[in-house]
Amino acid sequence: MTIRPYREHDRARLHEITAASFQDASLHGKLERMYGLLRGSTWAERKCREIDDDIAAEPEGVLVAETEEGEVVGYITTTTDEMSGIGRIPNLAVAPDCQGQGIGTQLINAALDRFDEMGMELAKIETLETNEAGRGLYPRFGFEELVRQVHYIMRMQDAKRL
Ligand SMILES: CC(C)(COP(=O)(O)OP(=O)(O)OC[C@H]1O[C@@H](n2cnc3c(N)ncnc32)[C@H](O)[C@@H]1OP(=O)(O)O)[C@@H](O)C(=O)NCCC(=O)NCCS
Repeated sequence: MTIRPYREHDRARLHEITAASFQDASLHGKLERMYGLLRGSTWAERKCREIDDDIAAEPEGVLVAETEEGEVVGYITTTTDEMSGIGRIPNLAVAPDCQGQGIGTQLINAALDRFDEMGMELAKIETLETNEAGRGLYPRFGFEELVRQVHYIMRMQDAKRL
């Protein structure tokens, strides 16, 4: 397995991995289970748009895991903020049939190496409380829980004015 920088021709594969892996690990996926399609758009389309946003924000911060056969089987997106010294991992995914083989671990190692090289002082990653993989994995690297955030949602037709 090689961890290498993202190249533009990887984009479609990153979308495939996202659509195959993220439904229960993303707010978009959970939202679709509760409310169905939003204006005809699927959770996967909206999640893939977030990955595109990560690529646009810091393309050199996107790393992919590639097999010896040249197949991309996972990715991690990273951003670095000079003002705060915080390196952030907005998104990370491994193709479902390749999970549990240490690829996610290798991707996080590579992201932390990048933060070191960029002189970051803090590393940040978020996960849903329901994401057992994330919650099992991140503390092993030394991440400590900072705070939990609650996401509320309602249909506008149910909104009350107080
Ligand atoms: C999270 C994710 C990237 C981990 O990738 P991976 O290649 O499977 O990770 P690893 O093989 O390095 O797993 C290391 C550890 O993660 C945890 N883990 C992985 N999959 C798990 C699962 N399905 N349930 C519980 N823990 C799991 C375990 O602690 C595991 O250690 P172990 O193998 O010693 O038990 C992958 O599960 C994934 O793509 N999930 C869907 C998308 C997602 O949740 N992204 C992160 C959003 S915060």
